Amino acid sequence: MSEPGKTKFQVDLRRHLRETGVEDNLTHLICEIAEASKYIIHSIRTGDLGVAGTSNLYGEKQLALDVLADRILRKRLDHSGVVVNMMSEEMDQIIPVSTDWEGKYSVAFDPLDGSSLVDVNLAVGTIVAIFPGYDLLRPGREQVAAIYILYGPRTTLVYSVGDGVYEFGMNNLMEYTLLREHITLKPKGNLYSPGGLRNQYTPGVENYVSTLEKRGVKLRYSGGFVPDINQVLLKGEGVFLYPHLKDLPRGKLRLLFELSPMAYLVEQAGGAASDGHQPILDLLPTQIHERAPVFIGCKDDVALAEEMLRTYEGKK
Ligand code: AHG
Ligand code: MN
Ligand code: MN
Ligand code: MN
Repeated sequence: MSEPGKTKFQVDLRRHLRETGVEDNLTHLICEIAEASKYIIHSIRTGDLGVAGTSNLYGEKQLALDVLADRILRKRLDHSGVVVNMMSEEMDQIIPVSTDWEGKYSVAFDPLDGSSLVDVNLAVGTIVAIFPGYDLLRPGREQVAAIYILYGPRTTLVYSVGDGVYEFGMNNLMEYTLLREHITLKPKGNLYSPGGLRNQYTPGVENYVSTLEKRGVKLRYSGGFVPDINQVLLKGEGVFLYPHLKDLPRGKLRLLFELSPMAYLVEQAGGAASDGHQPILDLLPTQIHERAPVFIGCKDDVALAEEMLRTYEGKK
């Protein structure tokens, strides 16, 4: 148990992971990601907010911070001694780190999610999916852990290793200590977070959103996937959607390093995540930068979306 006199809410992330029986290499990996976040915070607060003058595989103009955050995480993971392969939004391909994959992990990450919000000082985050072994092109259900760090008014880290969802907050010593454990979602919510242009919504999505609005749910959308999901998770009630659009049939968000880790966390919290027809976690990615439509949050609200799409758009 924790040090005498210390409650579980006072011990830091590493001790918490050890005491909850997380395997050593995975504990080390999660703590390395937590350490990297401290350098990312510093770069957000003091770094260059301008563009890097380069673009990623999506044709998105990379910010200096996108590239810097990517480099910080890549270096940490490279030297961790427990990573086999890694990929990120800012990399064109999977980066091999080690050929010895026994008891080690492969990582897909979004080093800086919401980069378009940095210059207007809105909350941004880092998202990480962790798979056992060497293969990253597999259904998100095979993850062994998922993490996001939210660089908000307070820096928080939310993770799950498959036994519930925990939230840690960064204290004045820059340690992460436990804030919440076993975060759970209600079956139905009272907020919705609709991404994408409304005039691009297909009939099923349009009817879904108007049904939610008739129910009186509140619109909460920041444009940052991490804060928007964090709000659904911690309020315990809501649904986020970035659906298929008339001009974007596969939606905008990326399966490997945005949707799969968030779907893992939300399912661990008793919620659901769907592409409109099937669970996000059952989707088999065919290439590393695959996108998918997403409806994620309270179980009943996601089920309603699937029902609306069946009614208005038929089974795809
Ligand atoms: P990223 O900054 O990593 O490229 O991701 C941005 C994503 C995600 O954070 C958010 O949900 C979505 O883009 C917002 O898209 P819109 O600007 O179209 O609303
Ligand atoms: Mn981007
Ligand atoms: Mn992102
Ligand atoms: Mn990003």
